[in-house]
Amino acid sequence: MVSQTITLGIESSCDETGVALYSPQRGLIAHALHSQVDLHAAYGGVVPEIASRDHVRMLLPLIQKVMDEAGITKPDAIAYTAGPGLVGALMVGGGMANGLGLAWGCPVIPVHHMEGHLLAPMLEENSPEFPFLALLVSGGHTMLISVRGLGEYKLLGTTLDDAAGEAFDKTAKLLGLGYPGGPLLAALADEGDDKAYAFPRPMLNKPNLDFSFSGLKTAVMLQVRRSEADDELYASRANIAASFQRAAVDTLVGKSLKAAAAEGLGRIVIAGGVGANRLLRSEMAERFSGDVFYPRFEFCTDNGAMIAVAGALRHSEATNPTEIQAQARWSLDSLGIPVA
Ligand code: KG4
Ligand code: ZN
Repeated sequence: MVSQTITLGIESSCDETGVALYSPQRGLIAHALHSQVDLHAAYGGVVPEIASRDHVRMLLPLIQKVMDEAGITKPDAIAYTAGPGLVGALMVGGGMANGLGLAWGCPVIPVHHMEGHLLAPMLEENSPEFPFLALLVSGGHTMLISVRGLGEYKLLGTTLDDAAGEAFDKTAKLLGLGYPGGPLLAALADEGDDKAYAFPRPMLNKPNLDFSFSGLKTAVMLQVRRSEADDELYASRANIAASFQRAAVDTLVGKSLKAAAAEGLGRIVIAGGVGANRLLRSEMAERFSGDVFYPRFEFCTDNGAMIAVAGALRHSEATNPTEIQAQARWSLDSLGIPVA
């Protein structure tokens, strides 16, 4: 990798349009993000066609903005999210990256979205060295991964049903909060008593490293119904939120500690949207004897900076800018590309 290389990162896998410029020498140079949350809020979830159209609308102005900020007229390489995600939305970012790559004559690098999340802490001054355990928790994924080097990922455990972010979002919906519910639920939990309800910590006592959130979701739903029947849902909402958050965080932290011990790893990286959860961060730091790393809050959820940094690290894997890659499903441990 040429250390002066400036990589433009493009993220468009779901409902955030993110772009950034990164170089290994200068670190993050500029970044911009446009959230579509308001567009989808009325539907209670992401509408794929609306997402694609908005990425089309926003990408070029955002790219122009970061290039103006950086004072450059073209980057040296372009990285884009090639999956997993909504195929139409991915095609917009992939089409843009490959079109610009062709016009500018620069290499184009397809990036795995979850690898972007995994490597996002590399954007920080306090960044982890390999090896580490990664807890990847987002709206679509819950994974424990042993990371020995770039592309050396061993999946240790995953969710058998809902993803962690999905559990937060569904619980928030039950409590009448907006979308995406994770941050709203976390804010409401701050006002509640986390010992008010004894919700289950599913799978915590099982020897494996898998997760399951459906039992917890059902327990919350039953409590919501009981509170509704007693006409006190509004009054108990904060307590339900706090008790749910505590149960979810206990499960995530408990399994992470078990995984780190089993793999003999002294570093834990928390990444993905749920990684923005303050209780998760503080509990992990308190209960783990090693070092805990995470990206700054804004780089936990989807963003272009994580794609730029992952693209810079995978610079040698540039493709011909006429091959747009867009994969809805793409397993992280199939990447298996050895360190150069
Ligand atoms: O990584 P991300 O932006 O998108 C996916 O790739 O899925 O993650 C979004 C998820 C949503 O489920 C959102 O509710 C959750 O992350 N989230 C949180 C918090 N902030 C975002 N969950 C719990 N606490 C938070 N503070
Ligand atoms: Zn994501």
